Amino acid sequence: MNVPLLQVRNLTHSFLEGEEKVHALRGVSFNANQGEITSIIGPSGCGKSTLMYLLGLLDQPDSGEIIINNNSISKLNEIQKTQLRNEKIGFIFQFHFLIKELSARENVALPAIKKGEDSEDALERADQILNQLGLSEKLDRFANKLSGGEQQRVAIARALINSPSLILADEPTGNLDTANSEIVFDLLQRLSREQNLAVLLVTHNNQLARRCDRFISMNDGLIVD
Ligand SMILES: Nc1ncnc2c1ncn2[C@@H]1O[C@H](COP(=O)(O)OP(=O)(O)OP(=O)(O)O)[C@@H](O)[C@H]1O
Ligand SMILES: [Mg+2]
Repeated sequence: MNVPLLQVRNLTHSFLEGEEKVHALRGVSFNANQGEITSIIGPSGCGKSTLMYLLGLLDQPDSGEIIINNNSISKLNEIQKTQLRNEKIGFIFQFHFLIKELSARENVALPAIKKGEDSEDALERADQILNQLGLSEKLDRFANKLSGGEQQRVAIARALINSPSLILADEPTGNLDTANSEIVFDLLQRLSREQNLAVLLVTHNNQLARRCDRFISMNDGLIVD
């Protein structure tokens, strides 16, 4: 059954560069379903990160509509948006932005602690997620003492701690070798199926992109066939 967790309708967005207007998105529409990975590919500058940024509710589109879990975002105020972002959306980036002075488990627990969860409980849950991602031996390791692939898995664990229904991953395998890219990709695929998450994956890796349930190709701010 294809249940759309995310519906994007005619999204446009532009930036002002001095006098010039850069049309980063020119009318993008698609759905992303629960339990599926949707990949987004396209050349540098075609608008992929702009799209992820808008879907993460970090900026307002010029026009168009974003519907998450049947909520039209334009109808929400800033507080409701922040709440939706914290509760429903997990972010994974190419450069994972782990805090290097914190251990793996502390990095993962942080978003739950920020949300007000008791820190012991949050750390315990962080351990469980890290165990599932094959990092049980590295719980107390400082983030900067982990390999690139391990750090990316910690970033995935951190994105999962608040049980999101949508994962936005902007080139999460961009700085990983083939073996680690496979591990991270397999993990996202498994999570989408087992936890019924909608995953949106921006990647420059065509082979990975074609293994996803859905495949969106962008060019110059538009979806192309
Ligand atoms: N903050 C900004 N101010 C002005 N222009 C911007 C800004 N962010 C992005 N752009 C422009 O918008 C367009 C889309 O950029 P975007 O970052 O979405 O591309 P991308 O598809 O993610 O590229 P890449 O594959 O290199 O990450 C580009 O022309 C870019 O220069
Ligand atoms: Mg980008």
